[in-house]
Amino acid sequence: MGPFDRRRGGTTFTRLRDGAALQLRPIETQDRAALQLWLATVSPESRYLRFHGNFSSLTESQWRHLTEVDGQDRLGLLALIEGQVVGIGHVIRLNDAPHTGEIALLVSDCLQRLGIGSALRDRLVRAARRVGIKRLIAHVLPNNQGMRRLLEAGPFKKIGEQGGAIEVELLPPRRGQRWRRILGVLFGLHPRWLRGQKRRPQPG
Ligand SMILES: CC(C)(COP(=O)(O)OP(=O)(O)OC[C@H]1O[C@@H](n2cnc3c(N)ncnc32)[C@H](O)[C@@H]1OP(=O)(O)O)[C@@H](O)C(=O)NCCC(=O)NCCS
Repeated sequence: MGPFDRRRGGTTFTRLRDGAALQLRPIETQDRAALQLWLATVSPESRYLRFHGNFSSLTESQWRHLTEVDGQDRLGLLALIEGQVVGIGHVIRLNDAPHTGEIALLVSDCLQRLGIGSALRDRLVRAARRVGIKRLIAHVLPNNQGMRRLLEAGPFKKIGEQGGAIEVELLPPRRGQRWRRILGVLFGLHPRWLRGQKRRPQPG
């Protein structure tokens, strides 16, 4: 049983900042058609930030990379709202550094900055810890404020940055984090309010 299979068939629910219920579950190979349709709706800019290339469609090996996950060395999550794909997240263990995984996320453009990326990150981090991944690297372009913020605000200690690859160490979970998560799901509270932190002013 992989770490994603422990709760209700691996499905969890999170309340987003706008009140929508976000469903997270492991990616399955049969999600490919839905993912194909969804990727076509994602802007070229966001796809470029995720895949670092000018692609119009993914190659067969890229598709296998996205959809064939095993819950041990290849963690992959699908984010859905009302059954529609709104994001994906992966952590792939590095062959030459088994305690390190590469994290990559992608969220629908019109639904960014609502907490989907943070929800994907947090669940991937919990799953990564359970399978012995202690460090994450992310290939992040210099202008990618969103992903940089996700790495800064996560349970991480930055180790370094080289050639666009940011490396972070996973910090142990904070005490009471599990209860805060349960309260958040029950009462629809954003984790930041449960931590008692002020919301930063949003530009624009
Ligand atoms: C990076 C990405 C996954 C973030 O997803 P998201 O759903 O917008 O993330 P969240 O809503 O959880 O936001 C997380 C934090 O980043 C901040 N943030 C998100 N996008 C931002 C942006 N463009 N500029 C500045 N801050 C940003 C949010 O304000 C939030 O900070 P806060 O918690 O202090 O308010 C999303 O922007 C995306 O898919 N980008 C294109 C693909 C990509 O860059 N992938 C990463 C490379 S692997």
